[in-house]
Order: sequence, then structure tokens, then C-alpha cells
Amino acid sequence: MSSSSSNSFIHFKTITNEKIKTLFSFADQIRLNSDSHLSFSKFKSSGKTGALLFFEASTRTRMSFETASARLGIYPLRLDGKAGSSLEKGETLEDTVLNVAAMDPSFLVIRCGDDLDLEEISKKLTVPILNAGWGKKGHPTQALLDAYTIRRHFGSCEGQRLLIVGDVRHSRVAASHFELCQKLGYEVAICGPQEFLPQDFSGKVFESLTPALEWSTAAMALRVQFERHSTKSSPASSTEVSVESALNNYRLQYGFTKSNLVHLSSQAIIMHPGPINQGTELDSEVLSDPRCKVLDQVSHGVLVRQALIYSILEGKL
Ligand code: CP
Repeated sequence: MSSSSSNSFIHFKTITNEKIKTLFSFADQIRLNSDSHLSFSKFKSSGKTGALLFFEASTRTRMSFETASARLGIYPLRLDGKAGSSLEKGETLEDTVLNVAAMDPSFLVIRCGDDLDLEEISKKLTVPILNAGWGKKGHPTQALLDAYTIRRHFGSCEGQRLLIVGDVRHSRVAASHFELCQKLGYEVAICGPQEFLPQDFSGKVFESLTPALEWSTAAMALRVQFERHSTKSSPASSTEVSVESALNNYRLQYGFTKSNLVHLSSQAIIMHPGPINQGTELDSEVLSDPRCKVLDQVSHGVLVRQALIYSILEGKL
């Protein structure tokens, strides 16, 4: 687990591959509703709470953690952004976290930007912190559910080839895969326009999509974050035209379209962490491609997060 707190889950740096495999096996047990599933109900009527602090927007991660908590019999307490909280009165993010921690939840799930340091704050707390997406640093439970999806399809992550296409430079999902692939033995390659790619990536980089898809066994599109790239100095009308033209060019060169995806093996899978800009990085018709696992990823997110909470509370991770 993270070195910054006894049982927090902030990144993958110190977690062993054996522990991750155990976590996946718990997720399997929940999915199959096998006998050991009975142990997962042990928190019911315990009065335990779990605080979900989402300082940035979320649909999948927030509701997935909420579902996972509820299914374990742990009451989820939600704080969604500033509205209605004392953040509106100027309370700091750190003070908010410390005050909620003082209410003695069993864990804190936190989504935040780079303006909160999860490692530093975890040193001040005994309650475990679960990273639900931290700036550009990482989104480890997303990487876990992606890897679980790959494992379910292929039987193992070992030897699989994950292609990540798009705005890798700003992606916390990609950052977590760069850590997790070393634990689980899958290879990660990246593809996208030069300005979207990290300069310090030491792995395989594809400049164009066709050979990248041919190489891949699991192809993941990332949301294009054009809000980070568009020029603000242009007049409004020309900015709109240039953004529209950039989006169209992007779709033709790097988008997951029916025609581009003929280069992906029929045995491969298509993934996206969501939310999707349909018609930009992934066409809507791709969602009905038999290789597409986008909604499976979401379902697996609940299993993996349920297994993670269980493992942390039972000291098994
Ligand atoms: N994949 C993901 O993190 O989605 P949300 O932003 O909706 O949680």
C-alpha cells in the first residue's frame, strides 16, 4: 500500500502483485456470489460509515464507491463539490478532510485536484484514504477495474498489450496504468498527437493509429480534453471553427471509429474510462461493437471497489 499511511490506497508503488491478485479474487467471489460472499455482509448493522469526498465532478467513481459501500453494509456519507458545504464559506480542502475524518468514518474516498496533497494529509490521519482520482497523479481504482476487465476477458493480464490513445499527458488513468502494468505484467503503449503525449514516457509510442491497433490486444480511448489545448487569444468565431476542425481531424486520425477499428483484432477488446465525448475519441456505434467493454468496466468498478474496501477494513491488502 501507500507508504504515506498505514492502510491508505493512494498509488501502486508499494503494493505487491500478489495483493492485487487477492483483491481480484475477492472481486470474483463477489461477482459469482460464492459461499465466501457471506463474509462480505459482515459490516451490516455495524454502524460503520464511509465518507466520499468528491471535490471534483464524477458520475462513475462516486456512484460506484457509493454502491460498493452500501452493498457492504457501510453507510456512505457524500460531499459533492463546494455547493452546500462550508467550502463555500472559505474553509480549506484540508480542513474539510480533517473535520470529516474527526467524525470517525471507516475510510475516506477522495477525488481532488493537485491543490490537495493526499500523501501529506494521509500522514496526519489514521483513517485510510482511498484515491478516487487525484489531479493528474493517478486514478488507481480505475486502473484496477480496467485490469480486472482485461483479466476477465483473457484469463490473465500477463502478456496483454494495452494501447492508450489520446490525451495521455493529462491523464491520471494512464499514470496509474504505467504503475500497475509493472505489477501485473501487461505492456502499455501510447498513441496520439505529439502535444498530447508525455515527453518522459520510456515505453512504446505510436504516431499513427493503424499500427497501434494492430499491435494491441486491449485498446483504450481517453477523453479529449480540448479545454486544455484550445487557444484563448483567437476571436470567438474563429476559435469555434478551429476547435471544430481540430475535433474532426482528431476523430479521423485517432478516433475509435468503425473504419479505424478494422485494424483491431476480433479477439481484442475496446475500453474507455468515461465520460466519453461521442463522435470525437469514440463513435457512438462503437459502443455496440461486440469487442466493446465500456459498460463491463463500470460494472467491474463496483466489484473491485467493494473488494478494495473489504480488504482494507479487514487488513488483507
Ligand atoms: N472514469 C471516471 O473516473 O469517471 P467519473 O469521472 O464519472 O468518475
